[in-house]
Amino acid sequence: MEPRPRDSNSDVLSLTDSGTGRAIVVGPYRRADTRNDLHQRLPAARLEEAVGLARAIELEVVNSGIAPLSSTRPATYIGKGKVEEIAGLVKSLEAGLVVMDCALSPVQQRNLEKAWSAKVLDRTGLILEIFGRRAHTREGALQVEHAHLTYQKSRLVRSWTHLERQRGGFGFLGGPGETQLEADRRMIEERLARIETELEKVKKRRNLHRKSRARVPYPIAALVGYTNAGKSTLFNRLTQATVLEADMLFATLDPTLRVVRLPNGLKVIVSDTVGFISDLPTMLVAAFRATLEEVIEADVILHVRDISHEDSEAQACDVTEVLRALDIAPEDPRLIEVWNKIDRLDTEGRAGLANVVARKPADRRPVLLSALGGEGFDRLASAIEERLSLSRVVFDLALDPADGAGVSWLYRNAEVMAKAMREDGRFVLKVRVDRAKADLVKAKFSEPVKPPLS
Ligand code: GTP
Repeated sequence: MEPRPRDSNSDVLSLTDSGTGRAIVVGPYRRADTRNDLHQRLPAARLEEAVGLARAIELEVVNSGIAPLSSTRPATYIGKGKVEEIAGLVKSLEAGLVVMDCALSPVQQRNLEKAWSAKVLDRTGLILEIFGRRAHTREGALQVEHAHLTYQKSRLVRSWTHLERQRGGFGFLGGPGETQLEADRRMIEERLARIETELEKVKKRRNLHRKSRARVPYPIAALVGYTNAGKSTLFNRLTQATVLEADMLFATLDPTLRVVRLPNGLKVIVSDTVGFISDLPTMLVAAFRATLEEVIEADVILHVRDISHEDSEAQACDVTEVLRALDIAPEDPRLIEVWNKIDRLDTEGRAGLANVVARKPADRRPVLLSALGGEGFDRLASAIEERLSLSRVVFDLALDPADGAGVSWLYRNAEVMAKAMREDGRFVLKVRVDRAKADLVKAKFSEPVKPPLS
């Protein structure tokens, strides 16, 4: 990413500035935010998540706490007493940054920065920083920068209007502050326009990549889940045992794609994604979406949940909402819930969960698993296999051994599950293809064999 335009008047935060590494995280949650429905998290868990997010960008969290609110203040969001209390903490702990786990207006941010003589980062700013660090692809990086600049621009514009109104009251026109802000705004707009042009180019290139990927015969399983649910642990465990030659194909394309062979022999491409977080600001959905291309096109979507977490249900609701924004409905037949971390439950807890799972309809049954301990991987493999059978068709085909073109077409377009030479000299192949290609296979290879190969 190119360095962001910045000046002393702007609200832009640079975490590389000296002194910002030590941070205080504040959860300014309304008192009414008690747990009255499943979507509502306990304040302590919300704060814990915010601290986790701050640590994800390598901030040293020197203190954290909840600031209960009965109402928000237009000037400072939190009340005067709290502002003073935190000012004392900032000073004594020598913190350079305060993370406010809420959405601050530009004016609130500015006032708090002044009161604390420290940088202030709100939830959107924090998430933007995380996305910026995790955007692996060029498109992801561009989308994140686009979101960042749009965020900044809105702040500049609003602060500027605010200043202008003040100035209007005193009858001033122009002035150095305004010029600086205008210049900032123009710089941001120019950069935004350049990013948009580049994004168009990148998207075209991506379509080419996608086409080459579409030729890959293995189905794609995408891992999604709330931050800390255990996606990377599952991804690593799945890929550890199986380093396949085809990996090379993806290593250059995307480091988060791997071909794995499941315990039942099925080969799938597994794709890891950035963790989901609660209250994802809508302006960030496009940036987030760019990091989730594989999910939209996946054959199977594994929704990994930390089932041992007290807020597991609320976290799942958040993930469902994000998926909905990507046009993936909760009823999507590609979705499989993976209830991870069962090793953290006692016997009673496990029995309870097993009961819940057993009562679900077979096609919506979650998989109980421990990504760390290794339990449940066979169940996961069967569930993936079952789900794939909905979208992929198996054929047993007999070919003339001289039909080299036919065999190579099958290897390119289908997943070859078994092969053998028949007594009559015909070559028999058991293949699995996407439903969309089934008619093509039938037309090209007219002689299915029975009984199927084992
Ligand atoms: P993000 O990158 O934030 O999205 O997280 P993630 O979903 O990739 O989670 P990750 O795999 O990094 O795991 C988070 C923490 O949970 C780590 O400390 C893991 O060791 C732990 N963890 C993951 N799976 C299990 C499990 O099955 N059991 C237990 N006890 N801990 C687990």
